[in-house]
Amino acid sequence: MRMSVKIDGVRYDDDVEPRLLLVHYLREQAGRTGTPIGCDTSNCGACTVLLNGRSVKSCSVLAVQADGAAVTTIQGLADDSGVIVAATVLPFALPLGIAILAAAAYPPDQPRYGESAPTRPTVSRR
Ligand code: FES
Repeated sequence: MRMSVKIDGVRYDDDVEPRLLLVHYLREQAGRTGTPIGCDTSNCGACTVLLNGRSVKSCSVLAVQADGAAVTTIQGLADDSGVIVAATVLPFALPLGIAILAAAAYPPDQPRYGESAPTRPTVSRR
């Protein structure tokens, strides 16, 4: 089947087997190897990606189900968040599935990992 998907902002057009799982498509056809396969039972969540902004276990979604969608992987978030950089250094200490959800929820106007936080305005007391 022919499919078109945007992964981390880059469009991919590929022929895929209808039974191919999204995690295998990401890793083997799209070359996005930052998404790991952590189990064979769809229980660990290590393969979590955002599919049109909603988290899914990419090992339980068919690649063709992502046709026309936008997929965000851990690699797509790595440039924007020090949290993800730390998570990829310690993949088994901090499950990537949790990290990708945290990064997705991380407000873009907040200081990044390693940056100093803005100081609170001084509150005057009477
Ligand atoms: S690889 Fe474990 S839930 Fe997908």
